[in-house]
Amino acid sequence: MNIIVTGGAGFIGGNFCHYMTKKYPDDTILCIDKLTYAGNLETLEPIMDMPNFKFFKTDITDREAIYKIFKEEKPDIVINFAAETHVDRSIDDPEVFLNTNIIGTGVLLDACREFGIKRYHQVSTDEVYGDLPLDRPDMFFTETTPIHTSSPYSAAKASADLIVQAYTRTFGMPCTISRCSNNYGPYQFPEKFIPLIISNAMNDKKIPLYGKGDNVRDWLYVKDHCIAIDLIIRNGKEGEIYNIGGHNEKNNLEVVKTVLAGLGKSEELINFVSDRPGHDRRYAIDPTKIHGELGWLPETPFEEGIKKTIKWYLDNAKWWENIIKGEYKNYYEKMYGNR
Ligand code: NAD
Ligand code: DAU
Repeated sequence: MNIIVTGGAGFIGGNFCHYMTKKYPDDTILCIDKLTYAGNLETLEPIMDMPNFKFFKTDITDREAIYKIFKEEKPDIVINFAAETHVDRSIDDPEVFLNTNIIGTGVLLDACREFGIKRYHQVSTDEVYGDLPLDRPDMFFTETTPIHTSSPYSAAKASADLIVQAYTRTFGMPCTISRCSNNYGPYQFPEKFIPLIISNAMNDKKIPLYGKGDNVRDWLYVKDHCIAIDLIIRNGKEGEIYNIGGHNEKNNLEVVKTVLAGLGKSEELINFVSDRPGHDRRYAIDPTKIHGELGWLPETPFEEGIKKTIKWYLDNAKWWENIIKGEYKNYYEKMYGNR
């Protein structure tokens, strides 16, 4: 099979390309990525020369270029990871989020209609459900929880989901959607919370913790997300949404303390700063559906995954040091300089 993976030079898409090229030597992975600030060819370096991997530096909003790839490569499956993904950046400048996350999804769906595919899969997020109260540990997001977004990022992702659902119903397209909780693991861009803690702590730099540090995220090791998507594209039912998450809820203060302990660094590095506007309080996934229908359960508990992640960042310091010494410095100053 020919499988298009968009956003494959990013964090989850990159891990997915590694996973798929090794697991399915007879399939060809066609990676499409614009290489924005978040895309990194160093992430793909270990698989770039594999015979079942091809890379296209292309913007998913570029209709002509996307149609050309579909025409020439005849994909069977399309998995759309490509997106602008950082909530703080979406608060600073929403426009590119609307273009990539909404228009880009529309272009890919049109290409699928034009050239025909067996399956289109949209990689969505639990953020489309909004948030849950901190004092209701009995509440979880299910696939029927209403969409109720908070940030320009989540609103753009939810819009994309609605477009996928409209193409499924109106044009009978074979689509699926997955909504996953917070991922962590190798190759995550250092603007995101866990790699930010690691990269700052390794430089003995303060770690900005928003608000009181009591917001809760449901952390999933990235490989478990990759396994879930692989199961959905093969055995998931057309037209269905699958939530992905493993009951791994931690508040942000607990996460910072765990990572600092893992690095042997002092908790004095923690710096409480002003909160993110509209900051979602708690995310928590109910994964009953994907477990019942597809037999998926996470394989990596947080305690093990965080150790592996810390080790990866220590062993691969060059990967993130190359990022933080570049344009990232300006981003960091703009985001945190006056906080
Ligand atoms: P990321 O920011 O690390 O990577 C995004 C990738 O998309 C980059 O390689 C970037 O170059 C590429 N890209 C951006 N705009 C593009 C465009 N116009 N055309 C082609 N490529 C473009 O993101 P991530 O954390 O790996 O997230 C991947 C997907 O998973 C996203 O759709 C995101 O919404 C979703 N998701 C992420 C998480 C998480 O915790 N990171 C959780 C649930 C869902
Ligand atoms: O839930 C899935 C989502 O998880 C994905 O859809 C998004 O693409 C991904 O970025 C992530 O969103 P979050 O906003 O939850 O992730 P982030 O790493 O930005 O922040 C995690 C938590 O840590 C959040 O409560 C905000 C807090 N935080 C974050 C940063 C960057 C801090 O306290 N300080 C920080 O400097």
